[in-house]
Amino acid sequence: MIKENKKLSLIALAVISLFFSISVNAQAIKGGKKISSDLLGLFFEDINYSADGGLYAELVQNRSFEYNPTEQKEWHSFSFWEYIAPGYSIGRISVETKAPVHINNPHYIVLDVEHVGHEAKYKGESGVGIKNSGFDGMVIRAGEKYNFSLFAQQLSKASIELSISLQDTKGKVLAESSVKTTSNKWEKYTTTLLASANCDTASLVILAKNNGKLALDMISLFPEKTFKNRTNGLRADLAQILADMQPKFIRFPGGCLVHGDGLGNMYRWQNTIGPIEQRIGQRNLWGYHQTAGLGYFEYFQFCEDVGAKPLPVVPAAVSCQNSGGTWRIGGTGQKALPTIEIDEYIQEIFDLIEWANGPENSEWGAKRAAAGHPAPFNLEYLGVGNEDKMTPEFEERFSMIYKAVKEKHPEIILIGTVGPFHSGEDFDKGWEIANDLEVPIVDEHYYVQPEWLLANQNRYDTYKRNTTEVYLGEYASWGNKMRNAIAEAAYLTALERNGDVVKMASYAPLLAKKGFTQWNTDMVFFDNVNINLTPNYYVQKMFMTNQGDYYFDKVVTKDAKDSTIAASCVLDSKTGDVILKLVNAGTEFKTMKVDLSQFKSLQTNAVLNLLTGKADAENTFENTQLIIPLKTEFKVKKKFDYELPGMSLSVIRIKTTK
Ligand code: AHR
Repeated sequence: MIKENKKLSLIALAVISLFFSISVNAQAIKGGKKISSDLLGLFFEDINYSADGGLYAELVQNRSFEYNPTEQKEWHSFSFWEYIAPGYSIGRISVETKAPVHINNPHYIVLDVEHVGHEAKYKGESGVGIKNSGFDGMVIRAGEKYNFSLFAQQLSKASIELSISLQDTKGKVLAESSVKTTSNKWEKYTTTLLASANCDTASLVILAKNNGKLALDMISLFPEKTFKNRTNGLRADLAQILADMQPKFIRFPGGCLVHGDGLGNMYRWQNTIGPIEQRIGQRNLWGYHQTAGLGYFEYFQFCEDVGAKPLPVVPAAVSCQNSGGTWRIGGTGQKALPTIEIDEYIQEIFDLIEWANGPENSEWGAKRAAAGHPAPFNLEYLGVGNEDKMTPEFEERFSMIYKAVKEKHPEIILIGTVGPFHSGEDFDKGWEIANDLEVPIVDEHYYVQPEWLLANQNRYDTYKRNTTEVYLGEYASWGNKMRNAIAEAAYLTALERNGDVVKMASYAPLLAKKGFTQWNTDMVFFDNVNINLTPNYYVQKMFMTNQGDYYFDKVVTKDAKDSTIAASCVLDSKTGDVILKLVNAGTEFKTMKVDLSQFKSLQTNAVLNLLTGKADAENTFENTQLIIPLKTEFKVKKKFDYELPGMSLSVIRIKTTK
């Protein structure tokens, strides 16, 4: 009987929710315009040490001895390492390339240990070895575990013991363990270190404890607690603030990084999967080393972990037009892959699609499965090209790639590119190519002053509908002050209003490491310990966590001539929630009239998130809390006047269920 009742109530619940979703849809279709359900997402590029030294949780810098002077002129294979021989030990070290663990990582070191000092006699540690301080020191927390691994090969007969420790700058040991070599072939050795104290500037110390000779490579240390505890994972705190934004998609790996500094520097996705010792690192065009430890598998996995659709971008077989010089200064210009190599290049893109979506028994699907993900990643979108110069060489290659992928994979939505600016020659030519080829979506980029965003809120109102759609893949106003963030908020309401032609949008760049930035306006600043969230981050988060899929006109009345105020109203058909975003980019209070009478069953207790502050205010590492959103309860009526504080964004979320 109880079971029967339970069954009945489940049926009743299903009927109610079906009725509710029908009524929400009916209501939405009646009054609202369908807009993109993938509108707001993230753009991740390894710029500003966003990946290595940033989101990628690896603590060792130059772990495979591949740093070199083409990256920074003073860099070499042993950069960020130190040779040590404490306790009057005697030995030698060399960097070699004769027989590496894997040909893709040719450099490794050889330690020749002649004499290990007597610890008791010298009252301290002894041995011959190396030390790494990571990216300006390793952050270690008491009670946390750290996963160490390295490849070693005995080059002398007997086994060699390696002590592994984490030490503070004075040499105090914070964690220790050891491994013992067992083979004269390259083998991977692992151990776990448990930290006994906190330290923000720790080093990893590896000391050979017996006489002999051995080779070492791919020396790695990860916190056990990465985001979602993934191996080869992401820094948990940084990944979490991105997950908190609930992005609908994530574009990766760039940016200019994609088309690269010359043809040899283009980002080739297949170099970034598989065991880390087999991946091919390279010079990052932003002026440092890119290990590819955060590679395609990790990007796709992260997307899945945060519920975002992956949006990889592949080069359009041409390199960055600024190639060969300092960023945007000089350079040899765009280089194009010879057309004879294009078929092979297109095959690489087919392989990517098979790797992401193919069954686990397909050639590339099997590689995904071997990495721990037998199920497909459900790739839907694929970008081709990044703000390339619209030369005949580009057009020829883009067309070949576009046509081939479209024919073989009609299920993939391809995204083209229309240059680096909001208008001009490349922009016009890019759109012409897109129209000719009927490209589903093109990627627009523009970095502008906040005034530009306010003055151009109508940009997409006049774009043609039912043809090529827009992905605003990179945009920002120059600055991280409140005035910048609020101008972006106003523009975001315009993107929502035009969500029937603007399919997607992502602010850029995303992450920037303090002291290591190449691009100054970014969404999130961080160092090894702290995170400074900008007002721009909060604006993005407030919009991203409050997306809808139907847009409603005429709910908010405002002075149409006043470009310093903006508003939007969307409905999320999954929850039935009605969401208002009200923006005031002026410094005085303004009033807007809200009329919600077209919505049925509105709950009166709504939630208001308010971000406000002085126009020139910005968060700093010293005061990260100056500009933060304030969450309060808000009483909603069918019709009400809303008072907007100067320089503010208000997001009001109203439930339509009882
Ligand atoms: O977001 C920073 C850079 O700006 C991107 O790499 C490039 O696409 C754009 O010019």
